[in-house]
Amino acid sequence: MKKILAVLLAVMILFALVGCANSDQTDHKEEETKEETVEENTKESETVEDGNEEKSDTLIVYFSWSNNTETMANYIHEQIGGDIERIVPVDAYPDNYNETADLAKAQQDNDERPQFEALAYDPTTYDTVFIGYPIWWYSLPMIMETFFDTYDFTGITIVPFNTHEGSKDGGTYEMIREREPGATVLEGLPIRGRDVNDTSSKDEVREWLGKLNLE
Ligand SMILES: Cc1cc2nc3c(=O)[nH]c(=O)nc-3n(C[C@H](O)[C@H](O)[C@H](O)COP(=O)(O)O)c2cc1C
Repeated sequence: MKKILAVLLAVMILFALVGCANSDQTDHKEEETKEETVEENTKESETVEDGNEEKSDTLIVYFSWSNNTETMANYIHEQIGGDIERIVPVDAYPDNYNETADLAKAQQDNDERPQFEALAYDPTTYDTVFIGYPIWWYSLPMIMETFFDTYDFTGITIVPFNTHEGSKDGGTYEMIREREPGATVLEGLPIRGRDVNDTSSKDEVREWLGKLNLE
């Protein structure tokens, strides 16, 4: 009888010990799971916070051959901030004016789509995108056609701006409305290239920005 009792006791102790060990494991797993969830949540909120911190609402993106449009883009950037990026052709245009004029004409006649280097910023992730370019042969440089083919600006506000030597906007703001029917295209500003460094041009940019009523 003593032996039976001793065996029973031993079995009970064994069960008790195994039970403890199991519940320890379960607790530990639960804790691990909780810790993982906390970690995941922290990561998520960090990402959102990082995104909010780094993400700007406005992008200024422009193509410029002799830097007049770049000057205008910089005026806009000084006034409103945001991100700014130049559209860089994969095949650079020649430095020579006549050569560039001939190449640009051939590209227009052949309805070509000159490629541009990948942008650092994705224009379709912004609320408002200022898009700048020079007038080439009374119209958009063909690289801008590539740009509008590449991105769908549905739901985004586009603000066009350009420089020229007499053609003003050359009907390009209307062309952009046709290319991007889902976008809201605000009234743009054309500035004469040779005047772009004048204080009056900077003032003109400031006045125009004021009238756009951007938030
Ligand atoms: C290839 C080429 C074609 C041009 N065609 C026109 C034109 O049709 N109408 C116009 O007013 N200006 C024309 N221009 C002048 C430019 O629009 C003007 O100089 C502009 O300010 C240049 O801007 P960027 O310095 O940003 O390249 C042309 C310039 C180049 C290089």
